[in-house]
Amino acid sequence: MNPKRCLIEPGDLTTGEIFHLIGLANDILHRPEAYSDRCKGKLLASLFYEPSTRTKFSFDAAMLRLGGQVIGFSDPNTSSASKGETLADSARVVSCYSDVIVVRHPKEGAAKLIAQNADCPVINAGDGGHQHPTQTLTDLMTIQKHKGRLDNLTVGVCGDLKFGRTIHSLVSCLAQFDNLRFRFISPEELQMPSFVKDVLDRRGIAYEETNQLDQAIGSLDILYMSRVQRERFVSEEEYLRLKDYFILTEEKMALAKQDMIVMHPLPRVNEIQRDVDDDPRAVYFDQVRNGMYVRMALILFLLGLDKEAKA
Ligand code: NCD
Repeated sequence: MNPKRCLIEPGDLTTGEIFHLIGLANDILHRPEAYSDRCKGKLLASLFYEPSTRTKFSFDAAMLRLGGQVIGFSDPNTSSASKGETLADSARVVSCYSDVIVVRHPKEGAAKLIAQNADCPVINAGDGGHQHPTQTLTDLMTIQKHKGRLDNLTVGVCGDLKFGRTIHSLVSCLAQFDNLRFRFISPEELQMPSFVKDVLDRRGIAYEETNQLDQAIGSLDILYMSRVQRERFVSEEEYLRLKDYFILTEEKMALAKQDMIVMHPLPRVNEIQRDVDDDPRAVYFDQVRNGMYVRMALILFLLGLDKEAKA
């Protein structure tokens, strides 16, 4: 029996495994019927201690489309957490019932703690302002699909780089590919934290920090927009001051390369104007669809069911 595998941060997967998951996700996308009962008899427990629409639905849909079943909660007030149960105990208990656990939690490090105490594979679906590795798999699949490569790219990430966990995971993960350049576009108050910059520094990867989207956009192959993360601000006043700092409009898109793509993990608030949705370079709704397939691939991989040929 293989040792238990978990996905807590992108570094838990090798480059080869990332390509394997993207390849598998594409295969599932093209012939879903070949996978429709691969998880028959398996149970996914989905523990959402923080609100979510797409990530929770995406995991639930992924497991159901593999023929498995789902239990869990999306409101911690309905779980024993409200009685004071520790996360470690919850992990032990839930892993007695299920084959794989998906957890989202407002505290950094919560998913790791659950992984240390559960007997089954654990997937981090977002821990506070820290990491969100399955969104990264979604993003990489989308980049590969629309740009045909994960190397030789100039990537702009724009918005709340301080609290945006999808950005932390994406940038640290992209650092393993060749010839990447980053432009970090944010107000000074929301700059990229040092735990991400350190990864780039160690690998000698160039990045620039700016608060000028108009000046940076023309050099980009990818523009990754993000929401200002209201729930992570201590001061509401500070949030209100920064929330509309960047708004992507068609006028700004006119300054971008013809083959630049615009991504966003969603939900969007004001940071991308609705008219940009009709621009063929806007791929954020395709990104959502890819997310379900790559999560199907990940569930199969962690359960050791990814190589099983269908008779
Ligand atoms: C992101 C998240 O939860 O971190 N959403 C998602 O999972 N697709 C981004 C966000 O909430 O802004």
